[in-house]
Amino acid sequence: MKRRNNVKSEVDTNGKSPANPSKSKQRKEKRAHGLASKDKLYSGVRNKLIFIVLLYVAAGGAFLYWHGMGSTPEVPPEVDEEILGSLPQDVKDLDLPNSGVFRKKSAEAVLGESVKKAASKVKSKKTNNSTVRNTQGGGDKDPRYPNFEPRIQSSIEMSDMGGNAWTEVEISKNRNNTSVRIFTMDDFLTPRECDGLVKAHEAHMKQHEPFQPIICFSGEDTMKEYLRDVNLGWSGGVWRADWTQGTQCLNESLSRQLNGKLLWSHSTSFYPGESPFSSTYEMRVKNHTGLDPRNGGKFQITSYPQGVGYKLHTDCTEGNTDKRDRFATILVYLNDVIEGGETQFTELNVTITPKRGRALVWTNMNNEGHCDVTSYHQASPVIRGKKFIIQRWYYFENFPALGKRFDGPELPHRSPLAPRVACDRFDSGSCRWYDEWNFDHLTDYAARAI
Ligand SMILES: *[C@@H]1O[C@H](CO)[C@@H](O)[C@H](O)[C@H]1NC(C)=O
Ligand SMILES: *[C@@H]1O[C@H](CO)[C@@H](O)[C@H](O)[C@H]1NC(C)=O
Ligand SMILES: *[C@@H]1O[C@H](CO)[C@@H](O)[C@H](O)[C@H]1NC(C)=O
Ligand SMILES: *[C@@H]1O[C@H](CO)[C@@H](O)[C@H](O)[C@H]1NC(C)=O
Ligand SMILES: *[C@@H]1O[C@H](CO)[C@@H](O)[C@H](O)[C@H]1NC(C)=O
Ligand SMILES: *[C@@H]1O[C@H](CO)[C@@H](O)[C@H](O)[C@H]1NC(C)=O
Ligand SMILES: *[C@@H]1O[C@H](CO)[C@@H](O)[C@H](O)[C@H]1NC(C)=O
Repeated sequence: MKRRNNVKSEVDTNGKSPANPSKSKQRKEKRAHGLASKDKLYSGVRNKLIFIVLLYVAAGGAFLYWHGMGSTPEVPPEVDEEILGSLPQDVKDLDLPNSGVFRKKSAEAVLGESVKKAASKVKSKKTNNSTVRNTQGGGDKDPRYPNFEPRIQSSIEMSDMGGNAWTEVEISKNRNNTSVRIFTMDDFLTPRECDGLVKAHEAHMKQHEPFQPIICFSGEDTMKEYLRDVNLGWSGGVWRADWTQGTQCLNESLSRQLNGKLLWSHSTSFYPGESPFSSTYEMRVKNHTGLDPRNGGKFQITSYPQGVGYKLHTDCTEGNTDKRDRFATILVYLNDVIEGGETQFTELNVTITPKRGRALVWTNMNNEGHCDVTSYHQASPVIRGKKFIIQRWYYFENFPALGKRFDGPELPHRSPLAPRVACDRFDSGSCRWYDEWNFDHLTDYAARAI
C-alpha cells in the first residue's frame, strides 16, 4: 500500500499519532469506540504506521489524499423554519435553511478571478519542481495565494470575555512533564449560536442522506482490522483488489454492506469567509485565546450518535519534525449530553464534561513546535443522547492551503453529494463520516514537503 510519511494522515479528522504511549489501554478502549460488533478483539497487525494517504497523479501530477467517509446518518429532525428565522443573522447565514447547504465557495472563488488565472498558470507548471518549491515560503510568492503570510503560532494568550473567565484545568498526572495547557470557558457560544450550528449540521447531513457513503480506509491492514472487528465474515476475503481502483475506498455495494455495522461520527465543514459566523467566531477566538485566524484550518461541526466516540489519539503527529502541525485545538460543545461523551486526557488525568456553549482549548505542541504526547485524548462514547461539537485546529506553522476549500478528487467516481467515511488507523483512530472529499489542503501540504 502507498505510504507517505511526509504527509499527515489525519489532518481533517481528530488527529492522530503514529506511535502511542499506552497501547494496552487503547486496546481496552477499542471496543468501546464506535464499533458495532460485540465480540472479539482483533489482536493482530497493529504496529504499522499507516498514513491514510491515497495518492493519485492527475494530469498535472496533483496528489490526492484521503481517508474514507460516508455513512447512514440517522434522520435529523425537521429543520424548524420558525426557529431558524428567529436566530441571529450571523447564525442564519451559516446555512441556507431552504437548501440546507453551506454556501460553498471554492478557494479560487474566495480569492477572486485574477487569482484563478494565476492559478491555472501555476497548475500548468506543476511538474516544475522549482515552482513547487516557491510555494514553501522563502521563495517567490505563490500567485495562487497572494494574501498568504507565513506565521508561527507558538503560544496562546487567554483573556476573559466580558465577565466570563477562562479556567485553567488542573493537571494531576505528568504535571511536571507536560507542556500541555487546558482551559475551559462556559458560555463561549450562546445557546442560539449552538442551536444554529447544530441545525446547520443536521440540515447539511440531511442533504447527503439519500446518498450511499463510500467507505475508505487508511490502508489495507486498517481495512482488515475494522472488518474483522465487525465480524462480517468477509474480512479475509476483501483485499486491496476490492478497492475502487486508484483509491483506498470500497465500492458502493461493499460500502453499503457495512451500513449499520461500522459506526461513525459525522462531520460537516465550513471554511473561513464562507459565512459571517465564521468571521465572528474566529475573531472571538482570537480575541480571547490569541489563536490567530491565519493559522486556523477549516471549521468542523461533529456529531456523535449514541455509542460512538473517538479513540485515544493526539491532534498532532508524534515525532513529527514538520511544524505544519496542529499546535492547539479549540472545541466547543454545542449541547448537553445526557451521559458519556466526555473529553478525556488520559496522560494528564483530565476529564471535561460536555455542556452547551462550553469551550475547551488545549495545546498539542510545545512552544518549540514539537508534538507533546501527553496531549493524548479521546472522545468517550456517548452513552445516552447525542453529542455535538464544533472544532478548529490552529497550526504551529501555517501554509498557503490551510483553511481553503478545494474541489474533491475525481476518484472514486461518485454522485456529487456522496459522503465519504474515513476509517483511520484502528489503534488510535475511528471511522468518521464527512460531507466533503476535500483534502487538497493536504496535497498542497504534501507537495511542499519536498
Ligand atoms: C522533481 O523532484 C523529484 C524528487 O523530488 C525528482 O524525482 C523529479 O525528477 C523532479 N522533476 C523535475 C521535472 O525536475
Ligand atoms: C521552472 O520554474 C522556473 C522558475 O519559476 C522557470 O524559470 C523555469 O522556466 C521553469 N521551467 C519549466 C520547464 O517550466
Ligand atoms: C485523578 O483525578 C482524580 C480527581 O480529579 C483524583 O482523585 C485522582 O487522585 C487523580 N489521579 C492521579 C493519578 O493523579
Ligand atoms: C513537581 O515540581 C514541583 C516543583 O518544581 C515539586 O514541588 C513537586 O513535588 C513535583 N511533583 C512531582 C509529581 O514530581
Ligand atoms: C516525560 O514525558 C516524556 C514524553 O513527553 C517521556 O518520554 C518521559 O519518559 C517522561 N518523563 C518522566 C520523568 O515521566
Ligand atoms: C464491488 O466490488 C465487489 C468485489 O470486488 C464486486 O463483486 C461488485 O460487483 C462491485 N460492485 C460494484 C457496484 O462495482
Ligand atoms: C475583537 O476585538 C476587537 C478589538 O478589541 C473588537 O473590535 C472586536 O469587536 C472583537 N471581536 C469579537 C468578535 O470579539
